[in-house]
Amino acid sequence: MRTRLTELLDIEHPVMLAGMGGVSYHELVAAVSEAGGIGTLGASTMGADTLRAEMARVRESTDKPFGVDLLTALPGQVDDGVDAVIDGGARIYVAGLGVPREVIDKLHDNQILVGSMCGKVRHAESAVASGCDFVVAQGTEAGGHTGTVATMALVPQVVDAVGTDVPVVAAGGLFDGRGLAAALALGADGVWIGTRFIATPEARAVAGYKDLLVERAEDETVVSRAYTGKTCRVLRNEWTQHFDDHPDELAPFPQQIFTSMEAGVNHLGAASGTEVDVAREFMPAGQGTGAIRDLVPAGELVMRFVGEAEAMIDRLARYR
Ligand SMILES: Cc1cc2nc3c(=O)[nH]c(=O)nc-3n(C[C@H](O)[C@H](O)[C@H](O)COP(=O)(O)O)c2cc1C
Repeated sequence: MRTRLTELLDIEHPVMLAGMGGVSYHELVAAVSEAGGIGTLGASTMGADTLRAEMARVRESTDKPFGVDLLTALPGQVDDGVDAVIDGGARIYVAGLGVPREVIDKLHDNQILVGSMCGKVRHAESAVASGCDFVVAQGTEAGGHTGTVATMALVPQVVDAVGTDVPVVAAGGLFDGRGLAAALALGADGVWIGTRFIATPEARAVAGYKDLLVERAEDETVVSRAYTGKTCRVLRNEWTQHFDDHPDELAPFPQQIFTSMEAGVNHLGAASGTEVDVAREFMPAGQGTGAIRDLVPAGELVMRFVGEAEAMIDRLARYR
């Protein structure tokens, strides 16, 4: 399945592993890249030393391209992180929050492509004007920090705005090959998948997180400021309910991160299997959680996405 995205990134399949902070570490990244998609390290929970070590371990496991996602809103994180990204041999750098204007030229000078997460058309326009090579149009269905516009409405509008200039990647609530086929039908060039890839043996997750993704229905997530101070879609629980009932107690980003960490309910990035109180823990998840029935190896998921999308495209041809 060749698209502008596979051409640009030099990969086989238009399936990107989202750079999920706390989840997308080297095992998961290498598995997706090795299967012909592209894995993206979620570096928002890593210091520069950890990022360098994680990149080295990806390179030990695969010689296929991989990427790094860094939030740009945290002071000091970008400069250290960008040097690590350049030294570590990444093919792509994705900015999770805001466009890193000051580092785009440096990344380009080192043959690294730059992508930007966008929840609105104007974010995509600004990213492209700043020199980004592709944009990820992420709808509100997505797990993690998210906006208000739904994937179905957002993707074609972003395609109309910037799709002639750069490839557009669809994200938010996509969990199988039907979502990939739908994204292509909306004019996107590929998909950026988060939540579905948490329910894999390779993902890093605290004890109970993957089980809850299998158990929860599509309406059991909530957009909450309770863990970071920014709107973030997570599994609904007692901690999110408390701040829904007491919004006056919320601190702004990033102070609420420290509040949730001090309260012992934010272990994002902790070692796999760390015991937590799942009734209060920070577990970002998208609305696609209701479709997850079991853990599936990440490489197999990539192949399923492609096979199902091709089958769906063949099926749609019957309507001609
Ligand atoms: C656990 C988790 C952590 C995330 N962390 C980040 C992050 O650090 N940077 C970022 O750009 N996006 C982050 N996201 C959002 C993803 O990049 C992606 O856009 C989203 O997961 C797509 O929607 P889906 O979960 O419905 O597939 C995160 C999402 C999840 C579920």
